[in-house]
Amino acid sequence: MNAKNPRWHVDEYQRQLSEMLNDPSCYSETHRPRFHFTPAFNWCNDPNGLVYYDGEYHLFFQHNPTGCEWGNNSWGHAVSHDLLHWRQLPVALWPDEHGTIWSGSAIVDSNNTAGFRTGDEYPLIAAYTSAGKYGKLGQSFSQGLAFSNDRGRTWTKYAKNPILPNQSGGDDRDPKIFWCKLTDEWVMALYLDHGKRFGFFTSPDLMTWRYTGEVPGFYECPDLFELPVDVYPEDTRWVLMDASGEYLLGSFDGRTFTSEGEKQRGDYGTNFYAPHTYNNIPENDGRRIQIAWMDGGKYLGMPFNQQLSFPCELTLRTFPEGIRLCRLPIKEIEHLIINTDSVQNRDLIPGRNPLDGLNHDLFDLQLVLEPLHSRELGLRIGNLTLQYDVHEKVLVCGQGSATIELEAGKLNLRVLVDRTSVEVFGNHGQVSLTSCYLRDRFGPPNLELYVQGGNAYLNTLVVNELKSIWKSDLPNYRDSMNQTNN
Ligand code: FRU
Repeated sequence: MNAKNPRWHVDEYQRQLSEMLNDPSCYSETHRPRFHFTPAFNWCNDPNGLVYYDGEYHLFFQHNPTGCEWGNNSWGHAVSHDLLHWRQLPVALWPDEHGTIWSGSAIVDSNNTAGFRTGDEYPLIAAYTSAGKYGKLGQSFSQGLAFSNDRGRTWTKYAKNPILPNQSGGDDRDPKIFWCKLTDEWVMALYLDHGKRFGFFTSPDLMTWRYTGEVPGFYECPDLFELPVDVYPEDTRWVLMDASGEYLLGSFDGRTFTSEGEKQRGDYGTNFYAPHTYNNIPENDGRRIQIAWMDGGKYLGMPFNQQLSFPCELTLRTFPEGIRLCRLPIKEIEHLIINTDSVQNRDLIPGRNPLDGLNHDLFDLQLVLEPLHSRELGLRIGNLTLQYDVHEKVLVCGQGSATIELEAGKLNLRVLVDRTSVEVFGNHGQVSLTSCYLRDRFGPPNLELYVQGGNAYLNTLVVNELKSIWKSDLPNYRDSMNQTNN
């Protein structure tokens, strides 16, 4: 540890984490999300370094180890066996003389291309930004590597960092690295701050990088990945996305990205930022799994600040207006269901609420209905209203809104409700709205399915009550605390 980050910060953090994780009341605070990731305490923003290795999903996140506001950027760390239940580990990367540790990505170096391997495990390698101007040397932003030979439990920064010095003269950041099978090389997509663009670089060994091209008009946190269109494995597109979730579809030859069509929005909610997808998901799974920062939520009186979105699977589907990226919650959510209520084939009449008496704290609701003669319909979840304007075809959730076309006369909605968030998915994920809210009273919200201006018809309504991810995992928290950290 250097002067800026004295040893006591590390020890103090671990003592505090240990204490919180051993306290049975941790994760049971009123405004603590119950099935979304939050750190036990202090600030978090972007998900970083999402990587799967040998049965474990790693989740790193921008973290202030010493406070509840943004700052002292470090990589917090949690692991999961199922993308649902998380076990928070010690901070993986602390600031150093090159700066604070900003966003980046991680990979499994199974061919030991970087030469970091020392034992039986494949090395995990993180590529991150050193925010130089926040370091004691006051340098420009650069990109560095850190590696772990013990399944991500301890991390060592590469002695010859930076591996990529500043490129644009601005605050270049957020390297997304992945192995490109087309070229048998590593690719890095990097936000080049001066000029607000994404640059592409390639490397055989993660150490030496060659600039190969760029795409203008993107801001922070690049992500780049390939997906099949519909169900045809041969017909693929590459998706290039930025922190706002906006994306271009196109082709990528391992060096340059060629776009096809206009930029699209990836999410229409008010609290979706810095999305990041997993590297190294096993081929027999093959999913592209995304987690975002639910930027801007309010957590009154909580020991933590900010939450991450529920993991979603991304797919490409063809619609009359073109190919679109779709997001839906990962299927593992089924493991959280503790109770199911359903209603089918029923007239929806103004003034009558088919959800009367349903009192769920956390739920995953699926709804198919025909608006017929109604002018507006929607769902009231306590003090939050989800409202669909039938003529305008616009769904409003808090301050966010999106156009949703009816499919064969039907509106299809999926709604995940946690203590402080609502994630809405329209038309099987064609449109998503990621939103935070603050409940105005204690206890489960009143639920109301309402219709105005005429009758509508309810085809199906399924309300799955969910359980918390935290309690059942408590015994595991203890063993993580014996790990050391550098
Ligand atoms: C996005 C971002 C990144 C940066 C990080 C710092 O939210 O601004 O560009 O690396 O947050 O916390």
